[in-house]
Amino acid sequence: MKRLLLLFLTSWVYPACVAIVYSFPDCTKAPLKGNGVCDTTKDPVTRAKAIIQQFTVEELMSNTVNLSPGVPRLGIPAYQWWSEALHGVAGSPGVTFAPSGNFSFATSFPQPIILGATFNDNLAKSIATVISTEARAFNNFGRAGLDFFTPNINPFKDPRWGRGQETPGEDAFHISQYVFNLIQGLQGGIDPQPFFKIIADCKHFAAYDLEDWEGNNRMSFDAKVTIQDLSEYYLPSFQSCVRDAKVASVMCSYNSVNGVPSCANSYLLQSILRDYWGFNDEGRWVTSDCDAVDNIFSTHNFTSTYAEAVADALKAGTDVDCGTAYSLHLPDAFNQSLITRPDLEKALVRLYSSLVRLGYFDPAEAQPYRQLGWSDINTPAARDLAYQAALQGIVMLKNDGTLPLKNNIKRLALIGPWANATTQMQGNYQGVAPFLISPVQGAVNAGFQVTYVLGTSISGTSQTGFAAAVAAAKAADAVIFAGGIDETVESEGNDRTTITWPGNQLDLITQLEAVGKPLVVLQFGGGQVDDTALKTSKKVNAILWGGYPGQSAGTALFDILRGKVSPSGRLPLTQYPAEYTTQIGMTDMTLRPSSTNPGRTYKWYQGTPVFEFGYGLHFTTFQLSWQRQPSARYQISSFAVNGNGPADLVHFDTFNVQVRNTGKVTSDYVALLFVSGTAGPAPHPNKQLVSYTRLSAIRAGSSSTAQLSVTLGSIARADAAGNMWVYSGSYQITVDTGSTTLTHQFELVGGALQISHWPQNTAPK
Ligand SMILES: *[C@@H]1O[C@H](CO)[C@@H](O)[C@H](O)[C@H]1NC(C)=O
Ligand SMILES: *[C@@H]1O[C@H](CO)[C@@H](O)[C@H](O)[C@H]1NC(C)=O
Ligand SMILES: *[C@@H]1O[C@H](CO)[C@@H](O)[C@H](O)[C@H]1NC(C)=O
Ligand SMILES: *[C@@H]1O[C@H](CO)[C@@H](O)[C@H](O)[C@H]1NC(C)=O
Repeated sequence: MKRLLLLFLTSWVYPACVAIVYSFPDCTKAPLKGNGVCDTTKDPVTRAKAIIQQFTVEELMSNTVNLSPGVPRLGIPAYQWWSEALHGVAGSPGVTFAPSGNFSFATSFPQPIILGATFNDNLAKSIATVISTEARAFNNFGRAGLDFFTPNINPFKDPRWGRGQETPGEDAFHISQYVFNLIQGLQGGIDPQPFFKIIADCKHFAAYDLEDWEGNNRMSFDAKVTIQDLSEYYLPSFQSCVRDAKVASVMCSYNSVNGVPSCANSYLLQSILRDYWGFNDEGRWVTSDCDAVDNIFSTHNFTSTYAEAVADALKAGTDVDCGTAYSLHLPDAFNQSLITRPDLEKALVRLYSSLVRLGYFDPAEAQPYRQLGWSDINTPAARDLAYQAALQGIVMLKNDGTLPLKNNIKRLALIGPWANATTQMQGNYQGVAPFLISPVQGAVNAGFQVTYVLGTSISGTSQTGFAAAVAAAKAADAVIFAGGIDETVESEGNDRTTITWPGNQLDLITQLEAVGKPLVVLQFGGGQVDDTALKTSKKVNAILWGGYPGQSAGTALFDILRGKVSPSGRLPLTQYPAEYTTQIGMTDMTLRPSSTNPGRTYKWYQGTPVFEFGYGLHFTTFQLSWQRQPSARYQISSFAVNGNGPADLVHFDTFNVQVRNTGKVTSDYVALLFVSGTAGPAPHPNKQLVSYTRLSAIRAGSSSTAQLSVTLGSIARADAAGNMWVYSGSYQITVDTGSTTLTHQFELVGGALQISHWPQNTAPK
């Protein structure tokens, strides 16, 4: 099982043998009838306790794993806690697609890195709403569970990470806003009553952003992270997910954090998650990553026996083991008095009260989501959202005026390892898509005469395909090269060692440049590779980055290429020069620049990026102005932080920016507001994103107003103990990146104001 599971995790191949047959208990019928779980006058915890109390110790222990056998004598069926839905209902142990007909596919949206590039959190919420609808429809027909191990909200800090495409990018504030909206779409609101739509799971808690790099494996890696960096960078997305969006489930990660495996880490799972963020027991639980409990003993060597490892994990607050370590070794731990019956009950009450809150035990007619079915999948609205997300997320990195393609361009040569990509467009954690429009298909559908030549593969070294590619280029009016990286095929979920273009793709592009036709490079993959050669070459006329754009990729790409729609995505991450990977190791978790660190992310990087965070071009030009001149001075003591709710969410100010389209075509515009300054502890970040919004379809000559609301937490900084402070001093606001920026200076005056008290780690090892 373990070998199988590991194989499964690293290659995203789903063995048929793990499929489960779900059945649905109905508490109004025997044998559940009358046992208390049906008593809707009681709260979910009380209802869950009513059944859990009837479990024997053996039954408690056997139900602490993702594939829970249930308790047939009590009418509790088997249940699979592990389903996936990163960007659409996805193949996973809890999900079974039908071979054909109904439930043979689900809408396949772009990977989160592209949703990040849209900087459109309303769109993310709408997509999440479709995903939860489709997930419920699958569940109603026994084809999925109700708990989905998504989203991945670890900040994409290092460009080598093999799974950064699963996240919305590198910025902690951006991910926090994104996940706050996404969770509402997945779960059906903030703490929705009486029912969750589905349960989402924020992962991987915490400081997880390394798979396997130069002998350092996630299963044994100990991430050494300062409390300051935890508070300011690694955990804001989790705080937003847990405290504000009230997610029902969190996944502890494979790695250790400061010497303690995450799934045995009571500082993370109790002090921060439950005590500080209020992750309560009413239907909210922690799962391990799959086999992470086993790894406490087997790869971290944190304990000297399996019994100790499972006892540590359970007592730290890992409620369900995705794996088999709990069911195999909790009996030993119980026998050795390392755990008690109340320890087991606590975990199972959390789990089963979540099922109560999902309406699992209620008769179908008692709740709204049981009506959903096949006709709610792949609706026209869902298809349009998938298309819109690709359209809004594609980022134009370069354009000398070649784009949009002129009307006299009829014959296209499409060349490169992504030109005829279909399933590749989905990336990883994918399901079966209703259709997949490759770039080649997109070009054909847009009316071009297309010649497709592979030319070379992603990591290819042979030049045998070059001649055909060059011949096709010569016969065409314009050349589109589609290439880049593909984390999910090329490196199988492992990390990269370089951020140069792989294989001989750049050599092929050089030969295509020599042909002298208009040449556009479409770059794919989640991480960024160094585009310096393409950026500086006069013969590469344009570059678009498409990430993993999902089922409607080809349509969206060609709607941009031929100017039907203006590109409007922004890079949600920094594109570093290639030497970056020689300047710092992946295992270095520090963010701030030092003698051994060039600085991480746009906040701290001291070098010159190839393309900076937030970069993205349009087919038009914009002019920015303040709609109302912002204040020059704020008194720190004037902010009412003693009211209800967390002080970091207190409103600081709203900046209204008038955005005028001064060009010739309609375009969306993403307004990004950064703050910089030298207040607070040195070193100071270059700047910090504090607000953003997307304005839709601003017509040529028209204006639209971006209302950029900023909270106190956004302008605060963390001290060494992780406490957030608002510091007096001089600050600057900058709207946008590049050359069309708008700036404003202001002062914060008065004594520094502490707005949070970060929990300190007092737990004995
Ligand atoms: C755990 O122990 C094994 C066997 O002794 C050893 O090979 C491995 O390096 C150890 N791992 C850690 C993380 O200490
Ligand atoms: C618990 O301990 C008893 C007595 O030593 C032993 O007979 C039994 O097999 C043990 N059970 C487990 C599950 O280890
Ligand atoms: C497939 O779903 C449709 C729409 O819900 C339904 O009308 C039809 O009966 C289903 N087909 C089968 C074979 O279940
Ligand atoms: C393009 O990909 C599709 C789907 O994988 C495949 O059927 C088709 O043969 C490919 N076209 C060429 C010209 O290789």
